[in-house]
Amino acid sequence: MELDLTSNAALQVREAIIAACRRMNASGLNQGTSGNISVRQGDGILITPTSLDYDLMRPDDLVWIGFDGTRHGHRRPSSEWQFHFDILKARPDLNAVVHAHPTACTTLSIMEKPIPPIHYMVAVCGGHDIRCAPYATFGTKELSRHAVEALEGRTACLLAHHGMIAAGSSLAQAMWRATEVETLARQYLGCLPTGEPPCLSEEEIENVIQRMAGYGHSD
Ligand code: 13P
Repeated sequence: MELDLTSNAALQVREAIIAACRRMNASGLNQGTSGNISVRQGDGILITPTSLDYDLMRPDDLVWIGFDGTRHGHRRPSSEWQFHFDILKARPDLNAVVHAHPTACTTLSIMEKPIPPIHYMVAVCGGHDIRCAPYATFGTKELSRHAVEALEGRTACLLAHHGMIAAGSSLAQAMWRATEVETLARQYLGCLPTGEPPCLSEEEIENVIQRMAGYGHSD
C-alpha cells in the first residue's frame, strides 16, 4: 500500500494524535512528556516524537515507522516506539496505543500489583484482570516483550515501576480505555487501606464481556 503522508486524511490523523496528547495532560492522565501515542497507518505506525512538549508539537513532528523498518520524519520517535511497534504489529485487532504514567496506575505498578476484578468495568480491558508486566528498562526490546505478553487476550496493562498501556481499535477507544483503567486503579487504591477487596469471579467477568459487546467506544 502506498504511504499517504500529505493528504487531508493523513493530516487529520496527526492532528488527532496531538489533540489526544494535550487532552491526556489536561485531564491529569499524564504529566509532562512522559506519555506517547501511536496509531496504525498503512503498513506501519505513526508515533509521537520523543521529549517534545505537546503544546509545541506540530503535525510534521510525528514519525512514521514502517513494519519493514523504514522511517519518515525529521524527529526521533518516542523512546518507547519499540512496544508501540510490536503491539500494533502483533495485534491486528488494535489500531492505537496510548502509553502514560497516570498516578494511580503508576502507584500500583510500583507495588507490582495487577488490578483484580474488583469492579465489573475491569471487563473493558478484555479479561478478568489488568496484568502488571515485569519491569524492564524503558525503551528496550525486553520491555516490549513483557508488554506484548501482558496484553495477550487484553487491551490494557500496567508496566512495573513505570506506568500503563491502553490500546484500542481506534484512538478514541484507546483514550477512553486509558481513562477507565486509571479510574479502576484509583478505586483499587481506595480499597487497599482496608485490605484486599473481595473480587468478582472470572465467570462473572466473562458474562459482563458478553453483555458489553458494542458498549463504550466500539468504533
Ligand atoms: P518519550 O520518549 O515519548 O518522550 O517518552 C518517555 C516515556 O514515556 C518513557 O516511558
